[in-house]
Amino acid sequence: MACSYQLGTKAESRCGSTTLGLPILACMSTDIASLRKSYERAELSEDASHADPLQQFEQWFNEAVAGEVPEPNAMTLATVDSRMRPSTRVVLIKGFDARGITWFTNFESRKGLALAGNPFAALQFHWVELERVVRIEGRVEKVSDEESDAYFHSRPLDSRIGAWASPQSQVISSRSVLVTNAAKYGAKFMLQPPRPAHWGGYRLVPDQWEFWQGRKSRLHDRLRYQIGKATTGGGTSAAWVRERLAP
Ligand SMILES: Cc1cc2nc3c(=O)[nH]c(=O)nc-3n(C[C@H](O)[C@H](O)[C@H](O)COP(=O)(O)O)c2cc1C
Repeated sequence: MACSYQLGTKAESRCGSTTLGLPILACMSTDIASLRKSYERAELSEDASHADPLQQFEQWFNEAVAGEVPEPNAMTLATVDSRMRPSTRVVLIKGFDARGITWFTNFESRKGLALAGNPFAALQFHWVELERVVRIEGRVEKVSDEESDAYFHSRPLDSRIGAWASPQSQVISSRSVLVTNAAKYGAKFMLQPPRPAHWGGYRLVPDQWEFWQGRKSRLHDRLRYQIGKATTGGGTSAAWVRERLAP
């Protein structure tokens, strides 16, 4: 039985159980509009942050891993297709360096088709326990075939077969399509599945970063880094300009 929730008032609802069979104990009294928390764990200042956003990201990512937040490597990827329709999904970061942020997927998926039509994208990490968000924007390119091959062959066998078995984002008639495909490709490739041409890595090359640290009374810290021009010696070079944004 479904449980309905209401904004702003006490929910007058029918309670039932979730699809996992867990009883919905809170639904009679859940007032969504009153759900809030105060963010008080840390602060982010100009003095204590890195001038280079990649170093700042590395520090926060390492702290998320060390802090054992659930799936610290999960990030939301937003794309906009050629019809200007935005869409989001979660993917796993598989690497980051001065070239950008890397993940792997099916090039023919919804996100892959969107990126083929419009290469600009945004990434977001939300490390809830640390009261931190990182937003990254930029242009997306495919990683080299060598990089995609190297990562593909580092994956467990069932994941490599899965890349063949799942026509990601396409409508399938039933789950048995996946099971049948997995058996078919497993028998075909045995222990040595090659990387499918439709599967590999993307790299987002950042031109903007934002680091958000929750603070008390909704006076959060937000530091944005954008590519600007710096004059050094005789010439100019690209440099990150760090600015504080109002929360
Ligand atoms: C924690 C988590 C990690 C995921 N990692 C990936 C990933 O690295 N690559 C991927 O293609 N899909 C990943 N997915 C599945 C995607 O969220 C999504 O369902 C899939 O890529 C299809 O998205 P699309 O139809 O928008 O292209 C992940 C999902 C979750 C919940």
